[in-house]
Amino acid sequence: MKVITVINAKGGCGKSTIAMNVASGLAREGRVLLIDMDPQAQVTQWLKAGDGLTATGTLLAALTGEQTFREVIQPTRIANLSFVASADGLEDLGRQITEHEGYPSLLSQLLATESLAADFDFIVIDSPNQISPIMENAIFPADLFIVPFESTKAVRSYASFFKLLLRLRATGDYDILHVLSNLTRLPGLRARVLSLMEQDKIVGAQTEIRSCGWLAQVDEFGGSIFHFRPFAKGALDLAQLVEEVRGSFSLSTNGNSPIPDSAPADSVSMP
Ligand SMILES: Nc1ncnc2c1ncn2[C@@H]1O[C@H](COP(=O)(O)OP(=O)(O)OP(=O)(O)O)[C@@H](O)[C@H]1O
Ligand SMILES: [Mg+2]
Repeated sequence: MKVITVINAKGGCGKSTIAMNVASGLAREGRVLLIDMDPQAQVTQWLKAGDGLTATGTLLAALTGEQTFREVIQPTRIANLSFVASADGLEDLGRQITEHEGYPSLLSQLLATESLAADFDFIVIDSPNQISPIMENAIFPADLFIVPFESTKAVRSYASFFKLLLRLRATGDYDILHVLSNLTRLPGLRARVLSLMEQDKIVGAQTEIRSCGWLAQVDEFGGSIFHFRPFAKGALDLAQLVEEVRGSFSLSTNGNSPIPDSAPADSVSMP
């Protein structure tokens, strides 16, 4: 089982868009559990899997021990994709758990205790946009980080995440994909982001998620971009990112690309 955390200490850089769609793409070739660790509960609402306020049935209930982790795993309408919802109380819980020694590994311990490796090939985590104890829990179990950059501020914010990463994961047993996100409509800004990355010696991933109007609307649709608009630029880029993720684990594809071979975009609707 491989754990992929989509993260950066910057709001609106594309974390949830990437987490939801990479999880859906990976579900074509394996069993995937997507965990919403953001108290804003964007993906929870995207999947219509909770109201973002009620603790019961969410990660919050599992972290407080009110329910087991397995009890809060929900099925989704997407084949092979299961989900753990978030609730806004996660933020308060984050403040309370710091009293316990070893609090950054709380989620890791739950994942290990429940032997989830027998049921899932991948876990994808959508994380909060601020340095917090909950973010620390999203960092602790990850084998791979996907860090989206949609602005120069996102590149600068990377430093605070990276400092935390060095502290929590001193052995360096992880990979990072730095992914340009939603910058192709702003070539000047894109050039400034690239130059800042070069200055900070941050190597970009092969994949860039281009600006795509359909990606900006896919959350209202409720499924993934592969179901909503499988031939949109955003779907092609996310399919490529899924391949890059699999490649980083030395997993080749068995031909189950999330993009179908041919069909007019408008003929494809949510299953
Ligand atoms: N490639 C893209 N093209 C166009 N719009 C995009 C793209 N990626 C993301 N967006 C839009 O940008 C906004 C921010 O994206 P998203 O919610 O994924 O970011 P986030 O990092 O999860 O934000 P937060 O920090 O608030 O959780 C959303 O409205 C989303 O639809
Ligand atoms: Mg988000």
